[in-house]
Amino acid sequence: MASKQRVLVTGAGGFIGHHLVSRLKSEGYWVRGADLKYPEYQASAADEFQVCDLREEKDCQLAVRDMDLVYNLAADMGGIGYITAYLADISRNNILINAHMLEASRRSGVKRFLFSSSACVYAQSKQLTADVTPLKEEDAYPAEPEPGYGWEKLYAEELCKYFRHDYKLETRIVRFHNVYGPLGTYDGGKEKSPAAICRKVAQADSGNEIEIWGDGEQTRSYMYVDDCVEGLIRLMNSDHHEPLNLGTDQLVTINELVDMVCSIAGKRLKKVHNLNKPQGVRGRNSDNTRLRQVLGWEPTTTLEQGLVDTYKWIESKVLEREPAVKENAA
Ligand SMILES: NC(=O)c1ccc[n+]([C@@H]2O[C@H](COP(=O)([O-])OP(=O)(O)OC[C@H]3O[C@@H](n4cnc5c(N)ncnc54)[C@H](O)[C@@H]3O)[C@@H](O)[C@H]2O)c1
Repeated sequence: MASKQRVLVTGAGGFIGHHLVSRLKSEGYWVRGADLKYPEYQASAADEFQVCDLREEKDCQLAVRDMDLVYNLAADMGGIGYITAYLADISRNNILINAHMLEASRRSGVKRFLFSSSACVYAQSKQLTADVTPLKEEDAYPAEPEPGYGWEKLYAEELCKYFRHDYKLETRIVRFHNVYGPLGTYDGGKEKSPAAICRKVAQADSGNEIEIWGDGEQTRSYMYVDDCVEGLIRLMNSDHHEPLNLGTDQLVTINELVDMVCSIAGKRLKKVHNLNKPQGVRGRNSDNTRLRQVLGWEPTTTLEQGLVDTYKWIESKVLEREPAVKENAA
C-alpha cells in the first residue's frame, strides 16, 4: 500500500525534512522533496527534488501536483537568537508558505496534510519557572504564544482547522518540542541549543571556557530526530486531527545539557554565563499523555544516547574546518 502512495515533503532540504525523506523512501513511498535549497550535508533520497520558493502560490501548486500526502515542514526558523530577532520576516514568510500550501493542497485533492507546529505556541505565562508543569495540548489557550514564530504557528494551526471545516481537507497538526540529531544546522545563527553546545564543546580545548546563554538553569526537553520521524509517520497514519505534542518529557537544564556533552567529549570546560543573550521561556516540558493515547507510542531515545551520535557528527564537521577555525582565532 505504502509503495503506491506519493508523498511531498516540504522543507526537505532542512534537518527534519531530510531525515523524513530518507525514512519514507526506505518504507517504499514515492517521495518529492521541495525546498529553497538542497540538503547541505548529504544528498537527498527523494525521487524528485523541487528547488522552489513556497511563499509563491505557483510553486506550491507545482509541488503538490499528483500528491496523496503532504508533510509541510518548510519554515523560516532557527534557534532562540534567530526567532527573537526576526519577528516580521519569520511571520510573513511562514504565513505565506502555510496559506499557499493549504490552498494548493485542497485544490489538487491531497488526501492528508500534516502541519509542523511548535511548542512555541504555548502560553508564555505557563512557562515562567524552570520546574515547569509539562504542557498539555489545551495549554495553548487562552493564546499567549511567543512573539512572531509562536503566533504564526498558532494561527497556521487554526488555518488547518478552517480548511478541514470548510473543505474537508484531512489535516494533522504536530507540535514539536526541540528536535536534535546529526545533519542539523550547527552554526551560522540558525542552530538550536543542543547543536550550538556540541559545536562550542567540539571547538574548545579541555580547560577552556565556553559561553552559555542565560544562567543555564532554564529547562527544556529534547527529542532525537529518529523518534521525531517515527512520530510524524504515525501521526499522519492516525485519525487524530487535533494538535498533538511530539517530544520527550525528560526535562534538563541547559547546564546539565552542557555537562552531558562535555562528558561525551571527555572534556572539562568552564561555563561562562552571558545574561545578555536571549534564553526564551524559563522552563518547558511536554505532557505526553495524549501522545501515548493517540499513537500508542512515545519517543524512546534518551538524551544521553541521542547526544552521542549528534556530538560525533558535529565534532567531525568542526574538525573538517579546524584549520580555518584556528586561523580565525589567531
Ligand atoms: N527542529 C526543531 O526543534 C523544531 C521545533 C519546533 C518546530 N519545528 C518545525 O519543524 C519544521 C522543520 O524544522 P527543521 O528543524 O527541519 O528546520 P530547518 O530550518 O532545518 O528546515 C526548514 C526548511 O524549510 C526551508 N524553507 C524555508 N523557507 C522556505 C520557502 N520559502 N520555500 C521553500 N522552503 C523553505 C528551509 O530552506 C529549510 O531547509 C519547521 O516547520 C519548524 O518550524 C522544528
